[in-house]
Formats: sequence, structure tokens, C-alpha cells
Amino acid sequence: MDLVVCMGEGADRDDAEALAERVNAPLSEKIGDGLTLMTDADGISLLGFGMRYQGDFEHMLPRVTRGRLSHEMLIHVAKPKGGGLSAIDATAGMGEDSFLLAACGYEVTLYEKNAVVAALLRDAMRRAENDPLLKNIVGRMHIYEGDSTEMIPDAGGTVDLVYLDPMFPARQKSGLINKKLQLIQKLEQPCVDEKTLLDAALSVQPKKIIIKRPLRGACLAGVEPSYSVKGKAIRYDCIAFPERF
Ligand SMILES: C[S@@+](CC[C@H](N)C(=O)[O-])C[C@H]1O[C@@H](n2cnc3c(N)ncnc32)[C@H](O)[C@@H]1O
Repeated sequence: MDLVVCMGEGADRDDAEALAERVNAPLSEKIGDGLTLMTDADGISLLGFGMRYQGDFEHMLPRVTRGRLSHEMLIHVAKPKGGGLSAIDATAGMGEDSFLLAACGYEVTLYEKNAVVAALLRDAMRRAENDPLLKNIVGRMHIYEGDSTEMIPDAGGTVDLVYLDPMFPARQKSGLINKKLQLIQKLEQPCVDEKTLLDAALSVQPKKIIIKRPLRGACLAGVEPSYSVKGKAIRYDCIAFPERF
């Protein structure tokens, strides 16, 4: 997919050049025909196909305030038992699931291998750090750009939870999925090396691995979980190690 980096109003040239180098795309004066990573006074956004997407944790606030967090299915599944609040999100994407985990108290290490997604996520986190309501939560999120299957084994320290949400196989019609996924799917292929991802998660000996799957999708790498929790459209497969609690 063609990508250009475009400098909009209020952008800093050095930052724009560094971004272009990081995502390995040309710096352009104009919006491209494919995808454009726009950097301007509002931060970094992804444009293309008549859509614009910018990461934004502010819209997550209603999900984590006024007692709403405990209604989140992920939190129901991830709620720590017997202490331990260290998590790895091995497929960070735009960090929304990590944000829920961080809101529930987890210190989350996020890995994102796609340079464009990582740039959008870092920018959303930077803006959230300046928001008094968001900064404590985002302060518990630590992002690393790179392939988690290579980086996790060197992570060190105790890990209580590993969270995996690799891109689902493209089954949904574009009209039915949100803007974020429509644009990000143009950058990404569904996960093909499921076993490597699961092996990396297992290598840090967590108490639990949580895997987000389509409701009726196959288990990751064909490995049966200890149990599953089902929602309307997705399910969480949990591989639990009670002996480590
Ligand atoms: C479906 S999205 C995750 C969405 C995320 N849970 C959220 O709340 O925004 C999957 C993401 O995982 C990333 N990814 C897939 N395999 C990865 C790997 N081995 N290491 C790091 N990132 C990976 C992809 O680049 C993509 O951005």
C-alpha cells in the first residue's frame, strides 16, 4: 500500500522528516493517492479512501469512569487474582485494550510492529499525557516498536498477563467495521504465524494468556484454551496456569 508523509499546518519539519524516515515513506507536499500520514499542529493522523483516523484515548473515558470499567468483558477476564499487575500486550494496535488494562491497574508493556500504527499510538499517548484525566492511566502504558515475538523473550521480570489480539482473518464487510480497522487493515495482514506468537507469550511464563478471537473463529494456533468467555461478536480464550498464582 502506497504511503506518504505529509506536513500540514503547524508541523515541525525535523519531526516530519524523522517520521518519514521511521515509517520508510517519502515526505510529500501533497496528500497521496493511497495512505497519507499527516503531521500537523493536531498531531499525527492517517488519511485515505475518504477517511481520517487519529488515535484518541479521550473517547475511552466513558468506558473507564463511573464504575463502567468493571462492565468491560476484558476486565472481567483479566481481573487480577492474588495480586500481580504486570501485563504484556504483544499486539498493541491503537492501544485501546491496553488502556483498559492500565485503567484497572496493570503496568502494561505494549509491542507494535507496524511503524505507522506505532507512530499513531505514540502520538495518541503523547496527547493523553497532557490530559489530567488520562495521564495516570497512560502513564502505566509503555510502548516499544518492534516484533513482540522477537522482543518478548528478552523482556525480563515477572509477567502476570500476556494479551494477544492479532488481526482477525478479513471476514467482515468493510461497511461493518469501524474506521480504525478499515484504515489499519490496509496496512496489515492477518496474523499468519500464530504459533510463534503463542510460543513467545508462553516463554515469559505468565499466570494467564488472554486471546481475543472472533466469536466463532478458530483458536489461536489451534491450541484449546483453559476456558473461554463469549460476547456478542468476540470471545476471549484464556490459557491459565493456576499453579503460578
Ligand atoms: C487487531 S490489532 C490490535 C488492536 C488492539 N488490541 C487495540 O485495542 O487497539 C493487531 C495489531 O497487532 C500488531 N501485531 C501483530 N503481530 C505483532 C507482533 N508479532 N508484534 C507486534 N505487533 C504485532 C499489528 O501490527 C496490529 O496493529
